[in-house]
Amino acid sequence: MHLNSFHLFLFLTSGIVCQYDYEGYYPFESDYGYAHSMLEPSTAVCAPECNCPITYPTAMYCDNLKLKSFPIIPSGIKYLYLRNNMIEGIDNNAFDNVTNLEWLILDHNYLENSKIKGNIFSKLKNLKKLHINYNNLTEVVGPLPSSLDDLQLTNNKISKISPSTLEGLVNLTVIHLQHNQLSEDGLSGVFKGLNSLLYLDLSFNKLSKLPSGLPPNILMLYFDNNQITNIPDEYFKKFQALQYLRLSHNKLTDSGIPGNVFNISTLIELDLSYNQLKSIPTVNEHLENYYLQVNQINKFVVSSFCKVVGVLAYSRITHLRLDANNLTRADLPQEMYNCLRMAADISLE
Ligand SMILES: *[C@@H]1O[C@H](CO)[C@@H](O)[C@H](O)[C@H]1NC(C)=O
Ligand SMILES: *[C@@H]1O[C@H](CO)[C@@H](O)[C@H](O)[C@H]1NC(C)=O
Ligand SMILES: *[C@@H]1O[C@H](CO)[C@@H](O)[C@H](O)[C@H]1NC(C)=O
Ligand SMILES: *[C@@H]1O[C@H](CO)[C@@H](O)[C@H](O)[C@H]1NC(C)=O
Ligand SMILES: *[C@@H]1O[C@H](CO)[C@@H](O)[C@H](O)[C@H]1NC(C)=O
Repeated sequence: MHLNSFHLFLFLTSGIVCQYDYEGYYPFESDYGYAHSMLEPSTAVCAPECNCPITYPTAMYCDNLKLKSFPIIPSGIKYLYLRNNMIEGIDNNAFDNVTNLEWLILDHNYLENSKIKGNIFSKLKNLKKLHINYNNLTEVVGPLPSSLDDLQLTNNKISKISPSTLEGLVNLTVIHLQHNQLSEDGLSGVFKGLNSLLYLDLSFNKLSKLPSGLPPNILMLYFDNNQITNIPDEYFKKFQALQYLRLSHNKLTDSGIPGNVFNISTLIELDLSYNQLKSIPTVNEHLENYYLQVNQINKFVVSSFCKVVGVLAYSRITHLRLDANNLTRADLPQEMYNCLRMAADISLE
């Protein structure tokens, strides 16, 4: 069920390649974007150990080569792949020949912050994608160029982001920071002013609170697998477009959830599974997918879904998961069927 809604998003915004998968996230680049480079003549002479496909001449692939340092990068390259090597650092002049680089994909290396020299990224004035997933970073790299739209730093050991690192990244749309060691102290105010941000993934970190100062246009917020105990009243009030919110595998209890905090009219999917809830938090009538499995819910109150029930007043819930709670079919009140008239499945066991 998660996948369906996610694929819908993928369909709408091609270029973001990811999946909802607790086992681990690996950003396969399946969309090489042949179309936009076919007609450009290649000036590049490929580094001998790497591969520059004829059909995609501005890309250079140097994956799986056990490289310990950067190969020679010829001018003309725009898309550089160096996945699954043993690179620990980047020299000051590494990108001198390719200041027009657009994608830099460095997943599965041993990069450390202290061995990344100078302002190498901010010199890349056309850089759009920077992926350094599965490395040994302890901080977000920077400074970063304002052209950036996709920043992925999952599966590192990042525990802090200095307040100015993301400042002025007006085109940044996607941030993946899952599987790091971030706590809310390491995050205060860092996402402020990122007015293009649509997707922020902070799952599998060490947050005990939600970060403050998130940009109001965000569409997807993922905080699952943290240690969040409560949500401040009105926290979601300022969000104007939030559609997907995931808070599963946290430590939420009824007392940590103010009455209307999840009554968010733009929300389509809410995941509160694997928490410690005893009742069902009130949601907006427009919510479609609601995940509450593995809590301690022992009562079903229709007003969690519908304040009033009428011809036009009903819940848009289609999927409701209540399995692994303290509820049986006998606990479901008769009047719920009118409110939840769109429900395609309600799982209890
Ligand atoms: C830049 O290109 C020149 C000519 O191909 C090459 O000799 C030099 O090593 C390259 N520099 C880097 C940093 O890759
Ligand atoms: C980098 O991280 C990997 C995986 O956590 C670890 O095995 C390796 O020792 C680290 N390397 C360095 C140089 O810290
Ligand atoms: C942001 O993206 C727009 C549209 O692609 C582009 O015109 C603009 O130059 C970008 N801004 C920066 C600072 O790169
Ligand atoms: C959610 O909030 C809206 C607007 O304040 C209100 O009209 C609606 O009844 C609320 N929904 C529930 C289920 O309480
Ligand atoms: C489950 O709910 C029943 C009443 O509905 C209650 O007697 C029982 O103690 C609850 N069990 C747990 C584990 O909360």
